[in-house]
Amino acid sequence: MISRDDALALDAADPLAQFRERFHIPDPSVIYLDGNSLGMPPKRTLERLTEVYRDDWATGLIRSWEHWVDMPQRVGDVLAPLIGAGPGEVVLHDNTTLNVYQAVHAAIGLRPDRRVIAISADDFPTDRYVVDGIAAATGHTVRHGFEQLDDVAVVVRSVIDYRTAELVDVAAETARAHAAGAMVVWDLSHAAGAIDIDLRACGAQLAIGCSYKFLNGGPGAPAWTFVAKELQSAVRQPIWGWFATEDQFAMGPTFQPRADIARMLLGTPSILALAAAEVGIALSAEAGMAAIHAKGTALTALAIDLCDQQGLATPTPRDPARRGNHVAVQHPDAKALVKELTARNVIFDFREPDIIRAGCSPLTTRFVDVFDGMAAIAESAAART
Ligand SMILES: Cc1ncc(COP(=O)(O)O)c(C=O)c1O
Repeated sequence: MISRDDALALDAADPLAQFRERFHIPDPSVIYLDGNSLGMPPKRTLERLTEVYRDDWATGLIRSWEHWVDMPQRVGDVLAPLIGAGPGEVVLHDNTTLNVYQAVHAAIGLRPDRRVIAISADDFPTDRYVVDGIAAATGHTVRHGFEQLDDVAVVVRSVIDYRTAELVDVAAETARAHAAGAMVVWDLSHAAGAIDIDLRACGAQLAIGCSYKFLNGGPGAPAWTFVAKELQSAVRQPIWGWFATEDQFAMGPTFQPRADIARMLLGTPSILALAAAEVGIALSAEAGMAAIHAKGTALTALAIDLCDQQGLATPTPRDPARRGNHVAVQHPDAKALVKELTARNVIFDFREPDIIRAGCSPLTTRFVDVFDGMAAIAESAAART
């Protein structure tokens, strides 16, 4: 029998516990288990935004573009070690949807002899819709599932299932796809800042993800693209903007893609959004991905044990090596339960058709939050029977 005191003891022994104090939490009575959708705001973000506004924008005016212009790459270099990428392999800009679009185009451009794009029918909607849209525009066929890959141009795949939190074996699946001659675009939206992943060691060449979930970059924070160094001179992306061209300010007659990761850029980046994203990413870097992943595993293990204790069903893998940092609770009244709990300041999110997601963000979620949150679900569910 796990008690609330057991959860408090885990918090007392938690080496990352002090990181929660680095976040702005105006109402400590809120139990927040939705950092897998939107991370909490670091205190430093507000100061940093004020600095950029006052010192760079107001004082520096246009002169600040001198150090702003390569900010997408600089923040990419802060993020790179958190996902096992090297310097010059990651760039941040715009949203995940657009980064998926560019990466899938880049991948199919490298496999011109193949006409199939493979994606799971259960993957996150924006990934599926973008793939369908590209296929409609280019004449590719979309195949749901990854069994047959020998005619596939590109596999588009989330590392962590947004509903169940199931974690794919990225190294094995990348190797299998590459052996079949297919490219792979990995979506790390639920993995970056959550699990200790080493893209290079996994053999991954193309990946994208957001920075507003476990990286605490802020609502609508810029997404990112990883292109392995060895692929950079070969990839072509479909939107030819001036930030991606050689000698941008020469204002030349034609687009000449830059030789490096900056060829994935488009137009003027959102500097305030990048400044906020950098703070969140730097906090994860300071804590270290090994420690973050270890705490995430412990938080989700507690949530699963509490599901068992409370008689709640969960499809989330029990093997810690097979799951990300949220736990799905399956309940026929999930939607109504999430609404009711939110009104009581216990915040989860709902995913169709019957999933309550309990997001465990290692820098902000306490073990006692998991205990109280799961107890609140059980109590509300019991009141409905
Ligand atoms: C796997 C995955 N891809 C993409 C997105 C969102 O894309 P965007 O940032 O363009 O809204 C999400 C959002 O939750 C996601 O979970």
